[in-house]
Amino acid sequence: MPTPANDRSLKGKAAIVTGGASGIGRMTALAFAGAGANVTIADVNLDGAKKVAAEIEVLGAQALAVQTDVSSWDAVSSMVAKTLKTWKRIDILVNDAAISMSQSIVDIKVEDWDRIMAVNLRGAMLCCKAVVPQMIAQRSGVIVNVSSGSGFRPAGGALAYGCAKAAVAHLSRSLAVDLGKHNIRVNTVAPGLTDTPMTRKNWPSREALLTQAKTSFIANPMGVLLEPKDQANAIFFLCTDQARYITGQTLHVNAGSWIS
Ligand SMILES: NC(=O)c1ccc[n+]([C@@H]2O[C@H](COP(=O)([O-])OP(=O)(O)OC[C@H]3O[C@@H](n4cnc5c(N)ncnc54)[C@H](O)[C@@H]3O)[C@@H](O)[C@H]2O)c1
Repeated sequence: MPTPANDRSLKGKAAIVTGGASGIGRMTALAFAGAGANVTIADVNLDGAKKVAAEIEVLGAQALAVQTDVSSWDAVSSMVAKTLKTWKRIDILVNDAAISMSQSIVDIKVEDWDRIMAVNLRGAMLCCKAVVPQMIAQRSGVIVNVSSGSGFRPAGGALAYGCAKAAVAHLSRSLAVDLGKHNIRVNTVAPGLTDTPMTRKNWPSREALLTQAKTSFIANPMGVLLEPKDQANAIFFLCTDQARYITGQTLHVNAGSWIS
């Protein structure tokens, strides 16, 4: 658990975590629940979302698993409506859901570009669009969009992914400007190489991932492999009142692999 057992700083709050069935999203959902929040796990993988909801209930908190393809406005609207019906409020949105593909301009298929943009960028925008009216009505809210180091420094080949992740950070900056007057904060967390099912697809063992973290183009000066809890801790911090005047920023959680 990323939060100390006595941290109840999110008690009574309601959070939505897209992509909450796996990796960084799962750990973020557990952190929120550990601090007392009710959590909606919105993921295209319903079985995975239900498993995380069950883990949350073991902690004594409440969770709602909703099958959601974030690229679909109908699916996102329905998920937000179910969330409101269940928790009666929405305080936190974490846009974590994403897919990754590694293709250059030469080999990328146009339909793959469109799908990555639809999930990784349009999906984040749709979820923001769906929750912001409620946050405005509540006169408060926090949104964290999960970007990537690839959105700031091209990692070679991941063209559509990197472009979408760069735009996700700009989405945060744009919304921070537009929504500050409503007491709504919007920030970005940009992970470096982290051990999750997404990265295990390319590097199936921890050793292979660690080699990337130590020696590849995306190596970091600390020579470490980050864990989902490292990202969840940063997202969690940005969602608490400890960060009450932090908005429009990008927090790079990457052991120094890219320093802005
Ligand atoms: N792991 C890393 O090294 C790393 C690095 C940089 C950025 N990130 C970003 O962190 C976030 C989490 O990644 P992760 O590594 O935990 O990956 P992951 O694959 O473990 O989790 C991603 C989740 O998103 C869900 N998802 C995929 N498409 C969806 C859709 N259309 N609608 C709803 N849910 C969908 C998946 O089912 C999965 O549960 C992503 O935004 C990713 O781009 C990860």
